[in-house]
Amino acid sequence: VRDKVRIFLEHLYQEGVEHDAKPMQSRRKRWNLEPDAAALVNVVLQAMGARRVLEIGTSNGYSTIWLADAIQPSGGSVLSADIDGDIQVEAARNLDAAGVANCVELRQADGGVVLREATDASLDAILLDSKRSHYLDWWPQMVRALRPGGLLAVDNVLSHASEVANFRSAVESDARFISTVVAVGKGELLAVKQFSPESVVSLPGRTTPS
Ligand SMILES: C[S@@+](CC[C@H](N)C(=O)[O-])C[C@H]1O[C@@H](n2cnc3c(N)ncnc32)[C@H](O)[C@@H]1O
Repeated sequence: VRDKVRIFLEHLYQEGVEHDAKPMQSRRKRWNLEPDAAALVNVVLQAMGARRVLEIGTSNGYSTIWLADAIQPSGGSVLSADIDGDIQVEAARNLDAAGVANCVELRQADGGVVLREATDASLDAILLDSKRSHYLDWWPQMVRALRPGGLLAVDNVLSHASEVANFRSAVESDARFISTVVAVGKGELLAVKQFSPESVVSLPGRTTPS
């Protein structure tokens, strides 16, 4: 990430750690992505030239800033959904302070609703960091909404392995996806939607080696 954004993110992450250490209801905590996991997703999105990214689980916008930083240079946009409108007020403030508000749309909505509204093959990437018990139900919509070559990134697959076991099996056994789990942060599942054989066109002038 760019230096100015990095400094802001370091400060925001530290503040989140201190906030979450206080006694409070779990749903009041920020539960920000670990910086190394966020950095991994940021780099992959940049390598892909991603422009249309959906995040489910905004919290106070920490991960959203990492996503926005990745797609801002290519003129892309992030749609970030969270059911909690209060936390999204904080997110809006943080996005503004980080200088990425112009490429993010925040929507107070259930992740399943936003996925159902997404056009077929319209998304370059989805970051899933919300209520894990919904992931399996949301899977068909994620498959539909991701474009071929699109990326699904899922947080907490090692920290909450049993909660995502059925979902992880569905992804890993789906021939339309190639996936791996990376042991950074709380464990990131990265899954890439494969191009169907019909959609791969041979390039003119290329010859098959004999
Ligand atoms: C782990 S936190 C997200 C942290 C955020 N990605 C970050 O790194 O800063 C999970 C968030 O998911 C939201 N959430 C829970 N259920 C949801 C649902 N069904 N749809 C959308 N968001 C949901 C919660 O309100 C909470 O803010």
